[in-house]
Amino acid sequence: MALGVPAFPFTIVTHVLGVVDVVLVLVWLLHFRGGLAWESDNKQLIFNIHPFLIVLGLIFHGGEAIISYKSLPLKKEVKKLVHLVLHAIALILGIVGIYTAFKYHNESGIANLYSLHSWLGIGVIVLYGIQWIYGFVIFFYPGGTPDIRRFSLPWHALFGLFVFVLAVGTAALGFLEKLTFLESSGLDKYGSEALLVNFTAIITVVFGVFVVLSALADAPATADDYEAI
Ligand code: HEM
Repeated sequence: MALGVPAFPFTIVTHVLGVVDVVLVLVWLLHFRGGLAWESDNKQLIFNIHPFLIVLGLIFHGGEAIISYKSLPLKKEVKKLVHLVLHAIALILGIVGIYTAFKYHNESGIANLYSLHSWLGIGVIVLYGIQWIYGFVIFFYPGGTPDIRRFSLPWHALFGLFVFVLAVGTAALGFLEKLTFLESSGLDKYGSEALLVNFTAIITVVFGVFVVLSALADAPATADDYEAI
């Protein structure tokens, strides 16, 4: 389905929202939560790497990878490479981000995989991995036959959007869960940190909406189009 409107205004808003989202998460973790650390006696600092890498990776880089075909007036082959590399960065940051949640749990003696958030999170990363490997093999190397590529493309696009929307929903659940933990431990429900976390989750969701709108809008004219004229 295409909206029949140019993608440009949507992609600009998407870039801005994505940068704002990453900055807000960093402000939260650095200003309110004591920062980030790979090794520390304060295990909360290890946990803090989790939301940062996930928002930077699966959300920001994942969203930018999806809209790369709509935001860059470049040749198709170049856009394909950008798409593939941005998704690879998203996937790697996502895997390391999830690893830090397990590391935090294990070093703090907390059980693993007890929440809806964590179950959906495992689903997201597994589906993201499958989607990336299938895309790589069929569209990049060694590449499928023209028939297989033609058949796969709409399913690849649809499934990619589905996994991204699932990632956004899982991230929103993660913010909710963390804030609920903090509020149960005494954090002011209407204080500035609570407002910041809820607002960051809203920006994450709105970013997701604009990624989908950009994906459904029309791509800008490319160098290929000009060569065809
Ligand atoms: C696509 C986004 C995300 C994915 C795929 C994801 C994945 C996961 C996974 C698999 C776990 C389980 C770790 C374990 O059981 O040891 C986990 C834990 C956790 N995550 Fe996320 N996460 C995401 C985003 C976020 C965000 C943005 C936050 C915000 C703070 C967050 C907060 C938490 C919390 C509080 C836990 C520990 C409690 C629990 O296991 O549910 N997550 N996450």
